[in-house]
Amino acid sequence: MAALRSLSSLPATASRSLLRTPSSTAPLLRAATAACTQIDQRRYDSAPAYGKPTTVIPDWGYYKSKKSESSNKVFGYVMVGSMGALSAAAGKATIQDFLVNMSASADVLAMAKVEVALNSIPEGKNVVIKWRGKPIFIRHRTADEIEEANNVNVASLRDPETDEARTKKPEWLVMVGVCTHLGCVPIGEAGEYGGWFCPCHGSHYDISGRIRKGPAPLNLEIPAYDFPTDETMVIG
Ligand code: FES
Repeated sequence: MAALRSLSSLPATASRSLLRTPSSTAPLLRAATAACTQIDQRRYDSAPAYGKPTTVIPDWGYYKSKKSESSNKVFGYVMVGSMGALSAAAGKATIQDFLVNMSASADVLAMAKVEVALNSIPEGKNVVIKWRGKPIFIRHRTADEIEEANNVNVASLRDPETDEARTKKPEWLVMVGVCTHLGCVPIGEAGEYGGWFCPCHGSHYDISGRIRKGPAPLNLEIPAYDFPTDETMVIG
């Protein structure tokens, strides 16, 4: 510091001349440089001269684990793994509950399919059963009725459909008993075509359930059905 003070107290011209003569001023300059380095060093190492230090780093030693690094890692892996497994199990249970909740209840599933004993329906008779809340018309048709249904000029129909396309076995006609106009339930063995008649607005369906007269735009709908055996029919 004394060297620095002596250097800084020199007039500017003197210090310049000193700087130009390195042989005589080298020790002085070295001392001044060392003093400046010391001052700078102290500036960085020490707290500010006024106010509180802003870079106080707390001591975390109290919170640090006293165990070895490998045992800490094992603990971390076990925790992450078990939490992941628990989360996966909880997610699976939630989704499963949601899906079970959304699926059809047992009584609805029981109604999804209806089995009909065919030998309980005599030839030439209609039977109405309930399936999924709708009436289902089943008619055991006679040979004359099948012939009548096949003799219709399909091209002349409002909703052109052959009788063959509407039945799996010609003697069994199965239809949803809901009028395609506004949803009334037609009456069997009635109307001008010997099939079904909807009294609500006067729609006439033939013996194949095709619309022949009145405001209904379409034939009576055919539901999904099958014949698992010769004696039974399953609707649905
Ligand atoms: S609902 Fe059947 S004719 Fe209108």
